[in-house]
Amino acid sequence: MPVLAAPDAKAAGLKPIPGDPGLPILGRSLEYLLGTFNYNADWYRRFGPVSWYRSFGITLVSVVGPEASKVVFKNSDRAYANEPGWSFFLGPFFKRGLLLLDFDEHLQNRRILQQAFTRDRLIGYLANMTPVMRDILGRWKAGQDFRVFPAVKNLTLNIASRTFVGEEVGPENDKVIQAFVDCVEATTAIVRAPIPGTLWWRGLRGREFLETYLKPRVAEARKADREDLLAALCHIEDEGGERFSDEDVINHMIFLLMAAHDTSTVTATAMIYQLAKHPEWQERCRAESEALGKAELEYGDLDKLASLDLVMKESIRITTPIPGVIRKTVKDTELVGYHVPKGSYVTVAMHTTHQLEDVWKNPKTFDPERHVRGEGKDAWMPFGGGVHKCIGMYFGGMEVKALLHQMLLNFTWSVPADYKLDMDYSSLPKPRDGLKISLVRR
Ligand code: HEM
Repeated sequence: MPVLAAPDAKAAGLKPIPGDPGLPILGRSLEYLLGTFNYNADWYRRFGPVSWYRSFGITLVSVVGPEASKVVFKNSDRAYANEPGWSFFLGPFFKRGLLLLDFDEHLQNRRILQQAFTRDRLIGYLANMTPVMRDILGRWKAGQDFRVFPAVKNLTLNIASRTFVGEEVGPENDKVIQAFVDCVEATTAIVRAPIPGTLWWRGLRGREFLETYLKPRVAEARKADREDLLAALCHIEDEGGERFSDEDVINHMIFLLMAAHDTSTVTATAMIYQLAKHPEWQERCRAESEALGKAELEYGDLDKLASLDLVMKESIRITTPIPGVIRKTVKDTELVGYHVPKGSYVTVAMHTTHQLEDVWKNPKTFDPERHVRGEGKDAWMPFGGGVHKCIGMYFGGMEVKALLHQMLLNFTWSVPADYKLDMDYSSLPKPRDGLKISLVRR
């Protein structure tokens, strides 16, 4: 079995990392894109929590299971850096977003950004997003072949426009949406050079468009007293009075807009699918929504939707919106007894951890109650962990719950008994058929 080790690993008393490169040249890229590698519990049984393989032309160290994942997330010895890891995949399209900053600079930016996600701010964002949801859901056309994924994606992008940039959906909106789509699609481009017509080139043009679009809006937001995220980023400061420059605001906004809408879309889609497959849970959640006695959710109501919370937890355990995260080691380090050499790409495979049979009872079964029993408490990590743990976790939870609440009150939905969600894992998980449901207005 090939091993990955720095020359002095043995001397340090550490184990070399076991692994298997996969196919010549391609490594495991094909399996990864097909999604089979994501669920690879056999691999874990064979190699344990730390292993290596080749994919996308690089050697990747894969970390699975709660213990090893936590060490990487916690990053106590500052060995794992985000920027050299994530920028390999995200390219220049999301440069200097919070996720791509490291160590002291990350901490300083995160402290300021945190002010945009306080309880009071979330209350304001929820009030802003509710009318957008009501309006768009009011226009959804019920029928046998309603495609969930594109409809939810359009909704979350519109919410982002209203809640983040403070704008009603206008003529510019379609262009903004397209610019984002171009940036996101460019991240998985095979040709990674600005050759006209390629995905990469389109991504660069998209980034340029977004910068030009946001620039005058930053100037306006600096002067305004508004409740959207852009205005928050323009005004907030840390304890020392540090504020973001215009350039910082634009970089953070572009990353936040991307981080927010894609993940929420996958989360809501996964929940809608599970509620279609499990009508008893749909009824249970609807009963809680009806018991609230109001169409528009307020922040304080979120805790009352306990079943919906369990459904969300279980849906993103099974379909983890960000299946894995990436780091690059800036020095040699020890990871649960293994020696990880400097310069290694390390991926924490949360999706695989969410499927481990020694952690979860019947991991393939949809069983929201497992979260009441406290099963897999340390192994549930869809929002990551440590200093880079998702800053939008409460925002995202609030958004998808508000959406599901409105859906439960206004519609019932189902899929045929033999229907199974077929996911495309070429970037974030996305249903190949868009998730077709039968949607009935109540
Ligand atoms: C609802 C579903 C969401 C999921 C499953 C999710 C997942 C994640 C994960 C796994 C990370 C950690 C990445 C890493 O460690 O490399 C992360 C980070 C981040 N997320 Fe989310 N996210 C969600 C929603 C959101 C929303 C709604 C926003 C913004 C409003 C957001 C903004 C961010 C930011 C800025 C980071 C970087 C944090 C840092 O580096 O300090 N996310 N997210």
